[in-house]
Amino acid sequence: MDIQEVLNWTDEQVQAKTGKGLDSLQKAILEGVWQRQGYKDIADDCHCTTDHVRKMASELWKLLSDVLGEDVRKANVKAVVENGKFSQISNMHIGNGDINVCNENCPYPKGGKKRSTANPNKDKTEKQHDLTEAPKSHRLYNRTQELNLLKQWILEDNIPIVTVIGLSGIGKTALAVELIAQIKDNFDRILWRNCTDTPTLKSLKTHLIQFLSPNPQTKPPSLTDCLRLHRSLIVLDDFQELFSTGELAGTYLPEHENYGKFFQQISTLSHQSCLLLLSQEQPKITSGNNHCQILKLDGLGKSAAAILEGRNLTDEDKWLDLINLYSGNPLWLNIIADAVEDLCDGNIAQFLSCKNLYLGDL
Ligand SMILES: Nc1ncnc2c1ncn2[C@@H]1O[C@H](COP(=O)(O)OP(=O)(O)OP(=O)(O)O)[C@@H](O)[C@H]1O
Ligand SMILES: [Mg+2]
Repeated sequence: MDIQEVLNWTDEQVQAKTGKGLDSLQKAILEGVWQRQGYKDIADDCHCTTDHVRKMASELWKLLSDVLGEDVRKANVKAVVENGKFSQISNMHIGNGDINVCNENCPYPKGGKKRSTANPNKDKTEKQHDLTEAPKSHRLYNRTQELNLLKQWILEDNIPIVTVIGLSGIGKTALAVELIAQIKDNFDRILWRNCTDTPTLKSLKTHLIQFLSPNPQTKPPSLTDCLRLHRSLIVLDDFQELFSTGELAGTYLPEHENYGKFFQQISTLSHQSCLLLLSQEQPKITSGNNHCQILKLDGLGKSAAAILEGRNLTDEDKWLDLINLYSGNPLWLNIIADAVEDLCDGNIAQFLSCKNLYLGDL
């Protein structure tokens, strides 16, 4: 959506509701925030103080919340305005119950969770969540910070591609399962797809379109249309399966090189959906810095003791040594706890005194 269009449309909505359009500072704030400027930069451009801009912005978000019927904040104003604008367009396009999906070049995102309350079709979007490929959730220790960060990126900042990277067993999958449990109501569509069968981009796209497509009877829309139409969360687990071994980390196998470009496209187009990649290696994504976020997952630290608590282990004073030795990796600690129980009768000191580090199935 072009900025002039944004300003005109928002001005019209405010005018229609209050009888008075946006003033020049309100327009400058909206324009600045739309273009990811901070309040300080906006204040410099408008030759006023940052405090004044912050105060005026706060009043503007209240005004827009009232006019657009949604809770508008700096972080979500773009999504709310785009959805409000699209709601009007899609209302014009909907006839005989069929949705006329715009083509790839359609400048507006076609809906999403946070639609304007003025949208009469809002409640018609049925949620579809396919988590059949996701493992069951288990108790998760010490990941509150990571969960909050992911929620911030996905729900507040609308980051289109979020990657969680970390060693095998560190808890990427477990974290994503818990995340989905906490945020699922925000998405019309959720799909969990394991990449262990190394899907080609073509087959992945076909799968996604089949799942996301609004009406299987009609000609399938493009994937980006689908992502615009329904706010979707797509989890691609074990994404490292698409990388070459023996090459630099994150180097795609030759037949999967087109994923890089695909991600670039997803990250720069306007929509409210999110691709969550879980991977042992960081995928290469060429994109503007605001469009992708990467969370590097570390071990659990001393709170990994909670994993050892339910086991038949003695000498608690040695637990931290064991945790440090296996870098707080929950999978490794579970395997090692089995080994300590079986081989050393639960005696950690005896286990640690072994000359060679036991790696078991690691
Ligand atoms: N924070 C945690 N608290 C307790 N258990 C955890 C935690 N994180 C992971 N686990 C457990 O550790 C094991 C490994 O976790 P998970 O499968 O999520 O690792 P992963 O990073 O996805 O590994 P891989 O890269 O091999 O897929 C699972 O049994 C999981 O339940
Ligand atoms: Mg995993």
